[in-house]
Amino acid sequence: MHESDRGLSRRAFVRSAVAIGGASALSACLQREETEDVPQAALSPDELPRRQHAWNEFLSTDDAGNVRPPEHHLLLGLEYAGDGPAGATGERDQLEAAFRTLEQAYKRGNEGLVFAMGYGPAYFDRFDADLRGVELPDPRPLAPIEDPTLDEYDALLHLASDYGHVTLSAEEALKGDLKELNGITVEGSFDGVFEVAERRTGFIGPGMPAERQSGISGIPDSEPVPENAPMFMGFKTGFRQNQASEDRVTIQDGLFAGGTTIHLSKLQLHLHQWYEQDSRSQRVAKMFSPTHADKDLVEGVGENLGDSSGITEIPGSAAEDARTEGTVGHAQKAVRARENGEPIILRRDFDSTDNDTASTHFLALQRSIADFVTTREAMTGSDLTEGAVGPRMNNGILQYLTVHNRANYLVPPRGLRSLPAPTPQ
Ligand code: HEM
Repeated sequence: MHESDRGLSRRAFVRSAVAIGGASALSACLQREETEDVPQAALSPDELPRRQHAWNEFLSTDDAGNVRPPEHHLLLGLEYAGDGPAGATGERDQLEAAFRTLEQAYKRGNEGLVFAMGYGPAYFDRFDADLRGVELPDPRPLAPIEDPTLDEYDALLHLASDYGHVTLSAEEALKGDLKELNGITVEGSFDGVFEVAERRTGFIGPGMPAERQSGISGIPDSEPVPENAPMFMGFKTGFRQNQASEDRVTIQDGLFAGGTTIHLSKLQLHLHQWYEQDSRSQRVAKMFSPTHADKDLVEGVGENLGDSSGITEIPGSAAEDARTEGTVGHAQKAVRARENGEPIILRRDFDSTDNDTASTHFLALQRSIADFVTTREAMTGSDLTEGAVGPRMNNGILQYLTVHNRANYLVPPRGLRSLPAPTPQ
């Protein structure tokens, strides 16, 4: 062990390496993680699903059957490096070769790699033709209480794995800095096609926030995050019955059928009051519902909940609780956006300590950005403010979040993931 990293646990070390990126972080990370057994592709690229976002069938599950998201995440905000409309044949083939290298080097799944490439409105603006068959609005503030930076990247690549060195190696390969990736010759790269304008990184999994909270702003050192919590706010999320299915978020018709959309926001967390002043019962009421708190429905981080938060089984309504309890829960508000009894967004969010600040990269998939807006409006709950429930106070978890960035992307089906034209043939 090096002098400088003595005392840093393996996972915290990997977190800082993923956050820093680059060749030296990668080699440091390779020394720390068990690397022998990262599996290569189990399927040939032609056997993989048509949907880029078909991750669930490849990801592992917990005892209750909930999808277990990969532990390490990397988001690359990309700027197109060429002039004029993108997608001259050569560069499209070059980029596709790069993505196929990733697919061959690593099995799709937690123990290998999952990734998805999305394109923003700025990318499609380069073309004379309009985007057909799908709405991709510019991002905008979605609540009266926010003033986010609206990202204008051409593209976003989301990479995730249980191994930090896998996301880092994939990034190095894409940048053209590796000849071989997990035993596979690297073909293609971003070279001359995309420049990495911004990196955002994160993690999700039991114990990971607690290991990382020290010295991070937005979260007190004195009050530890529960040891086995997967996220900074202390509760499990993403129960099977509280997530949209991949089918529900897939674009059904038109040229981009089989694709989806991403809304990506960066939420800064302010958890001093959450951990230092709020009681456990208040945290449960604000995260789930006052009924969850009164009836003690949540044990620990929510392990007892199985595959559902139970939010559809509680009596009364968000409006009633706002009036009579003076508090309304986050899940209780968000559930109002369901259609036909099912959630309409698939959350693939994770926490981050980028810039030494506790935050959440809230990445959600949905058939249309409008579905995200509907859900966010339900979660904001501007209709519920009266008495003790203010625009932020006692209004779910709004008081503990500031929205820093928003962005919208179209994730084309796999066959169109490399520099799609707005009206592909
Ligand atoms: C730091 C940020 C956030 C945290 C820690 C968080 C946490 C949670 C938790 C613990 C639940 C209940 C368990 C579950 O159903 O998975 C939940 C449910 C949910 N949240 Fe969040 N959430 C956050 C932000 C958001 C945002 C920004 C949105 C949407 C705009 C959102 C939408 C939802 C939805 C749709 C549900 C499920 C509702 C249903 O059952 O239909 N969450 N969240």
